[in-house]
Amino acid sequence: MNVLHVASECSPFFKTGGLADVLGSLPKALIKQGINVSVILPKYGHLSDEWQNQLTLKKSFTVSVTWRNQYCGLEQFVDQGVTYYFIDNEYYFKRERLYGYLDEAERFTFFNHAVLSSLPFLDESPDLIHCHDWQSGLIPAYMKTGSVENPVPTVFTIHNLRYQGAFPLDVFRELLHFAPEHFAGLEMDGAINFLKGALVHSDRVTTVSPTYAQEIQTPAFGEGLHGLLHQERGKTRGILNGIDLEDFDPKTDPHVTYPYKHNQMEKRKNKQVIQRLFELPERKDIPLIAMVNRLVEEKGVPLLTQIAGELVTTENVQLAILGTGDPSLEDQLHHLASLHPHQISFKCVFAEPLARKLYAGADLFIMPSRFEPCGLSQMISLRYETVPIVRETGGLYDTIQSYNEEIGKGNGFSFTHYNAHDFLYTIKRALRFYRTEKEWENLLLNIYNSEVGWDVSAKQYTALYEEILGKRKVEA
Ligand code: GLC
Repeated sequence: MNVLHVASECSPFFKTGGLADVLGSLPKALIKQGINVSVILPKYGHLSDEWQNQLTLKKSFTVSVTWRNQYCGLEQFVDQGVTYYFIDNEYYFKRERLYGYLDEAERFTFFNHAVLSSLPFLDESPDLIHCHDWQSGLIPAYMKTGSVENPVPTVFTIHNLRYQGAFPLDVFRELLHFAPEHFAGLEMDGAINFLKGALVHSDRVTTVSPTYAQEIQTPAFGEGLHGLLHQERGKTRGILNGIDLEDFDPKTDPHVTYPYKHNQMEKRKNKQVIQRLFELPERKDIPLIAMVNRLVEEKGVPLLTQIAGELVTTENVQLAILGTGDPSLEDQLHHLASLHPHQISFKCVFAEPLARKLYAGADLFIMPSRFEPCGLSQMISLRYETVPIVRETGGLYDTIQSYNEEIGKGNGFSFTHYNAHDFLYTIKRALRFYRTEKEWENLLLNIYNSEVGWDVSAKQYTALYEEILGKRKVEA
């Protein structure tokens, strides 16, 4: 079975978020299931020389975006069994950032058209195309509207419903190649919506956790599309993300100063490393709580800014925060750190090596998201044997079970309502267990036994592909 994944970012080439991590690891897991996997991406301006030197030009041709014809280079590179294709057009993609330009509709229309034009030139002609997020949302729509000569089935994965690719109505006439009768399948609240086009036309929709698949059918999480998502629920599945267990391994991670596995004595040496880097007192006995995140409202940063002061004045703890984002949240965190310099430290940078050191050095990891399609950080935290404290939403709900001392079950701590005091109460509850050695050891044992790899989910995707291609009886 040949499956082509289409996405706008993929580790280690280009990354702004979790989407890139998934594209960097899921294909390798699918290969282990016997699937031939390729990935096709835009070639942005900052591909490092390490990769650039390994690319070969497979074909060049022109791609039309309505009446304009644009150059398109199709470049190729194979790594660990996965074939990567890059769509080269410097006008659209050789820019400083990946996203956030005024001509976003045109850039990604070009990308979708270029992917479709590339299909005849790929080494393996795909049996199925798996698209990710709105940037590849037109492909399912073109497949179902008579524009593609040999259409193939499509799967569309929602990584975050908040980002939909909604543009002015003129886009339909000026950029897209659909016949007028297909307007309704792309229009949503007076805009052309690439994500809607994908939801309507794809053969299956998946979300990155089972709980998120349910949540998005409600007004609170549906971002205006809950009605449509409810209607399409029959073709929707929730399949949990995993993380790459080789890449994220505290025993072999080159950024971890003192490698460890199931050994808290060794792990705690890394706490000192973090305390030094974050300029906090070097004290092994003080619990260290970490946050590594994009600093935006939806990640629950406002809950932290509301309770951080009370937390550090009532508890002997340290708080190390890493990330960048909304300037007003960054300002609030700087302010909190200046008020409590011995307990709160904030590094306003996005730096993967430092993030890994922090996962290794912290005792507890907080992720109080308002919504979370899946979330990878809580799984990395489990892998680095750091106890997660999360809000029960989306993938956080599906991966973290709150510790229950009565039966000794659970791999972290969680709270139900998006509320600062419930969050504070849950941190305090976790700290109580931190100081009770026996319970803490038991909790850590449960963490060591938590599965965070791709095995189960890669099987679920394979079953889904087989179901679509008619190779498996559809389960009721
Ligand atoms: C998005 C979501 C995140 C998810 C990731 C990968 O970034 O916000 O929850 O883990 O995509 O699917």
